[in-house]
Amino acid sequence: MKQHFYVTTPIYYVNARPHLGHVYTTVIADVLARFHKLLGEEVFFLTGTDEHGDKIMETARDLNTTPKELADDNSQRFRDLWPLIQVENDRFIRTTDQDHVKTVQRILQEVYDRGDIYFGEYGGHYCTGCERFMTETEMVDGNCPIHQKPLTFVQEQNYFFRMEKYRPWLIEYIQGHPDFIRPERYKNEVLGMLRGPIDDLCISRPKKRLSWGIELPFDPNYVCYVWFDALINYLTGIGYPDDPRFRDYWAQAQHLVGKDILKPHAVYWPTMLKAMGLEPYRNLNVHGFWNVDATKMSKSLGNVVDPLDMKNKYGVDAFRYFLVRDMVFGLDSNFSEEALVERYNADLANDLGNLVSRSAKMVAKYFGGVLPSPDGPADDMDRELRDLALRVVQDYTAKMNSLELHTALMAVWSLVSALNKYIDRTAPWELAKKDMQRLAVVMYTLMEAIRFVALLVFPVMPGISRKILDIVGAGADLSLTDLGTFGLLRPGTSIGQAQALFPRVEKIVATGPLPGEPEEKKPARGKKEEKAPNVIDIGEFGRIEIKVGRILSAGAVEKSDKLVILSVDVGRTIQIVAGIGKAYAPEELVGKHIAVVTNLKPATLMGLPSEGMLLATDTADGKLTLVGFDRPPRVGARIR
Ligand code: MSP
Repeated sequence: MKQHFYVTTPIYYVNARPHLGHVYTTVIADVLARFHKLLGEEVFFLTGTDEHGDKIMETARDLNTTPKELADDNSQRFRDLWPLIQVENDRFIRTTDQDHVKTVQRILQEVYDRGDIYFGEYGGHYCTGCERFMTETEMVDGNCPIHQKPLTFVQEQNYFFRMEKYRPWLIEYIQGHPDFIRPERYKNEVLGMLRGPIDDLCISRPKKRLSWGIELPFDPNYVCYVWFDALINYLTGIGYPDDPRFRDYWAQAQHLVGKDILKPHAVYWPTMLKAMGLEPYRNLNVHGFWNVDATKMSKSLGNVVDPLDMKNKYGVDAFRYFLVRDMVFGLDSNFSEEALVERYNADLANDLGNLVSRSAKMVAKYFGGVLPSPDGPADDMDRELRDLALRVVQDYTAKMNSLELHTALMAVWSLVSALNKYIDRTAPWELAKKDMQRLAVVMYTLMEAIRFVALLVFPVMPGISRKILDIVGAGADLSLTDLGTFGLLRPGTSIGQAQALFPRVEKIVATGPLPGEPEEKKPARGKKEEKAPNVIDIGEFGRIEIKVGRILSAGAVEKSDKLVILSVDVGRTIQIVAGIGKAYAPEELVGKHIAVVTNLKPATLMGLPSEGMLLATDTADGKLTLVGFDRPPRVGARIR
């Protein structure tokens, strides 16, 4: 039987329009869905909208409309957006769908009949933004820690789910399945939440206060609490309990969520499933937040990024590439259009776009646009390239499976840059003058390796991938099994015309040479420049790019007390693995301004890629200190 893969996004509240955050999770789900299809698996991808609860009711009241109208309008906005972002979900679920209402009522009745729902009284501090009660330990100065707004004290008679009863089981389950919640930092966070009692979960609202919800089957005076209703969408979506899809897909469920909704997914949901007699989902995959200019995106700050704007300006493929490449899955990242443009020009226009167009041009020029047969012997350079391509496929697959998505792309780009170097080293324009047989081998090897790149970028950039596959004359069949062998392109096929896949866009912020920086002078011919061994000239120093960075998030590295992993905003977001773990605890690093060398060749430390180096020095008493600033610096500015 074929392997199944089931991926879900959170279902989004319909009190707001889709923004960058929603797009991020949904694009990641789409990337995973496409990747697993490439592996030949049966895939089901679910997204949708969450339409009940106080939040929707209040927004509808403020807008002078009904909850149903508000839900219809905004749900449609989400539904219309996905095809424009090349998101291909299999079902779009709404919690107002009839089959969902039925499933929720059925589950409520079952859990009630089993004795895990009881009637009682409760008073607690409620956040409408989160649609949940906050415990005393979660509250910060009486406010919600996520929305930073005052909480409302609510006391009423309600129905409760015996969640606390399942706490010991959940702890044991999480400990016995180390990757159940990933990345690891979130697993640890959840185990922290479970250290003390978690209370039972209030799962109803009296109708006299809130009528916008699913009626409890055992008490018509109450509606179901929005999270209890919403989480069940993951079962309705695949036809629980009778549809064969439920049987095939449930055990493979992969939930994707932002860190804001960790607790409902990691605590409420598995205990609910346990009470229903179902196995938990396979993995909860938790990502960080996109901030804008180092602060939270919010309507009131006016810094909400409109995904359609970005897509219209830079194209959907480039936008998706940026989202996947510039966030370390699990950590926060900073969104800026400047960073997007920088990535676009460097990775896409320059590295990938140029590679494809110059290669296609050469086949057109030297072989009349027909892929030549590689009849001559392969040399070391060809073999190295072929081996690298095959290795990159392995590396990429492993990284995609462990959700290190940006690293998977870095692996592909190592092949792209090796290909650009291969062109420079083999110099096809020289071969064209003297050795057509060798040239045929080079051009074939090049086009075949580009086919690898095209397939590997498919999950992230499906449009560009198809265009490149067309250019190299590969069939429309998309499968990673085609990457087990190097040499599948058929000689004699027509190569497509070179086209600008990524027209260059203007840089928004100039990061070019420093003002007043002297041009590097070439030494006069025949005269050797005398230099003391340790001395570099200003031109050499100018090649080192040192920038102001701000630490967005920091975490410990498993099995190392010396290393920490950082996500750092340097005008774009990069990951740095730094040896400052003995001097600084991760928590005290967040928010600090640091000096970072940003153009070092990426390295891998303890299996973690590092894209830069921070500067630190010794303190007078022999400890370590970060190099800092005595006035607040501009993030991304060059240090000179
Ligand atoms: N309706 C609930 C989810 C119920 S799932 C059973 C909900 N909806 S939401 O509309 O508020 O969406 C929250 C999700 O949107 C986050 O978990 C995350 O996936 C995404 N994001 C919202 N803002 C975000 C950022 N700034 N950055 C990244 N993603 C964030 O919660």
